[in-house]
Amino acid sequence: MCPAHIVGWGMYVPERVMTNDELARTMDTTDEWIRTRTGIEERRIAGDGETTSSMATQAAWRALEVAGLRPSQVDLIIVATATPDYVFPATACLVQDALGAGNAAAFDLSAGCTGFVYALGVAVDMVAARDGPGQTPTALVIGAETLSRITDWNDRATCVLFGDGAGAVVVQANGSPGGVLSTFLGSDGSGGDLLYLPGGGSEEPASHRTVSERRHYVRMRGREVFRFAARAMPDAAHRALEQAGLAAADVALVIPHQANQRILEAAARMLNLPPERIYSNLQRYGNTSAASIPIALCEAVEEGLIQRDAVVVCVGFGAGLTWGATALRWSVPLPAAPPAWWERARYPLWQGYAAIRSVARRLMWWLLGRSVKD
Ligand code: ACO
Repeated sequence: MCPAHIVGWGMYVPERVMTNDELARTMDTTDEWIRTRTGIEERRIAGDGETTSSMATQAAWRALEVAGLRPSQVDLIIVATATPDYVFPATACLVQDALGAGNAAAFDLSAGCTGFVYALGVAVDMVAARDGPGQTPTALVIGAETLSRITDWNDRATCVLFGDGAGAVVVQANGSPGGVLSTFLGSDGSGGDLLYLPGGGSEEPASHRTVSERRHYVRMRGREVFRFAARAMPDAAHRALEQAGLAAADVALVIPHQANQRILEAAARMLNLPPERIYSNLQRYGNTSAASIPIALCEAVEEGLIQRDAVVVCVGFGAGLTWGATALRWSVPLPAAPPAWWERARYPLWQGYAAIRSVARRLMWWLLGRSVKD
């Protein structure tokens, strides 16, 4: 098996910014409470017409552009999300169609805020297993969430925490050394009801009662989740590093799930790392669940915090309960050379092609339906 590498990255966040002060105008909270308890200052909220798949698609185009790849070169699309557009079809299939990625398999992965780390682990194994002479198996791994649509805006204990956005990476097994070195994944379903969305599944199908009792919104026991997270993050990071034969001191940057600044500080202490080695951007985006790690990774790259050969650890925790970490040796030279104009110009063309392809295929399904005789 050939090591897999992150060769492209991209993110998308909605334009609409919601500040703590704005929240404080509509409910019994303050900017000071939110900042000191969580570190969050503002978050992004999806606009009308924006969905998990539309944000995932934007992030994916950017990641493909950085990788210099066209959609037809993608073999696999995994979308990690707790807020899919629909229960089915998978959001990944909507992204596949929007990209015109005609050669890709596509599925969603549900592991709460650890979803991106889980999805990266699955993609790495799948591209590595498909490696063969003359092949460069390629996966798009996306974390995308529209948490504002499952947030109870009457519940001040949860609504101040969450935001919307998407991040994507392109993973390729291309024969070079380095890349993803190890993945550790954990779960404990006994903590499932610490953080869950009770309504709308097979246990409590949507009904007047579930709607009137607000059971289609996130429920969280914050203190318990906090305690779990403060232990699970350093534990997962240690285990991934151990599997890779590395120690915390080798780590250039940790990209953690962005849930709460106090959790990040506790994790830094337990890993014995200085705070500046734990990347944080939650002040600007809040907790974007499965999107938070790829968004943070993109921003860390853009800020020049990751250099070639640096050891990076992505680590998350979330609903399930789940937790996990990936240790990787960054193998792409940075800063990335800006693409030539003609390279950039190809992407609007491919976007146009993807849109026409989608319409043509829908027309084909319609015609197929009409051609069936009674
Ligand atoms: N503004 C003002 N007061 C508030 C607010 C608010 N927005 N929210 C709660 N309070 C009040 C409570 O009512 C409570 O008041 P009381 O003492 O009179 O009863 C007081 O503040 C303290 O409440 P706690 O819940 O004990 O506050 P805590 O310090 O634990 O902070 C928080 C709450 C921020 C949610 C914290 O527990 C936390 O971060 N937990 C982890 C959350 C997390 O990471 N969730 C996501 C993980 S997985 C995923 O991302 C899907």
